[in-house]
Amino acid sequence: MQGSKLCCSIYLKRIKKVNPNDIETKSLNSLVSYVDKNAEMQLVEKLSKLLPEATFLTEEETIENSEGEYRWIIDPLDGTTNFLHQLPFFSISVALEYQGEIILGVVYEVNREECFYAWKNGGAYLNNEKIGVSKRTELEDALIATGFPYYDYRGVQPYFEALEFFIKETRGVRRFGSAALDLAYVACGRFDAYYEYSLNAWDVAAGVILVKEAGGKVSDFQGGENYIFGKEMIAASPFVFDKTLEVVKNAFTKNR
Ligand code: IPD
Ligand code: CA
Ligand code: CA
Repeated sequence: MQGSKLCCSIYLKRIKKVNPNDIETKSLNSLVSYVDKNAEMQLVEKLSKLLPEATFLTEEETIENSEGEYRWIIDPLDGTTNFLHQLPFFSISVALEYQGEIILGVVYEVNREECFYAWKNGGAYLNNEKIGVSKRTELEDALIATGFPYYDYRGVQPYFEALEFFIKETRGVRRFGSAALDLAYVACGRFDAYYEYSLNAWDVAAGVILVKEAGGKVSDFQGGENYIFGKEMIAASPFVFDKTLEVVKNAFTKNR
């Protein structure tokens, strides 16, 4: 794991600029280049050797996506738009699922060389130091992370209703552009809460175990368990989770 993460991150760090001709549009506002694909191939190659029986679910599908008892869920470059615009906030996200449950997660912030990792019942860590979610108890002291809708605008009205609440009632809201890192930052207490919809499993699988093992709570917008494949997620410290869920749930229930 360490070796593959490292070689892929060195590769991502080395590439300073991608020629616009090498950028493909997969769908509305969803970009990809050879960088995402090469990084993914490096990860797949190393992880296949580490656990030969495991299958893969990867964003760029450089290997056939299939089910299995063990399955790696990979986003080789989370924050592609940042990367292509030469903004420094992007990450690599790798999770391992066993019989449908995430048992291991790694989120690596390439430019700060911050490695967030967690395993089931083992706690969560940042570069060898144990981490925990924020201890701030009041929403007015909380910093909230989110991702703005950028291709599926069906939920935009409830999304903005919740956003208005958080803008007015908290210390502030940030949209940094890497869901995996948003979750890692909830896990280490930099952010107090996070919500977003139109997510994919590879955006959140590693981050979810980080938040849980760091003492945080996660759910879908209804407070249920369908947050990895359900395309929507709330993650927060236990102190502000209930209020965050209430605000998001109310907004989305009313407007559905
Ligand atoms: C995206 C980033 C972004 C989030 C999107 C994701 P990508 O992943 O995580 O922060 O808002 O929902 O799709 O496309 O950069 O891998
Ligand atoms: Ca992603
Ligand atoms: Ca990606």
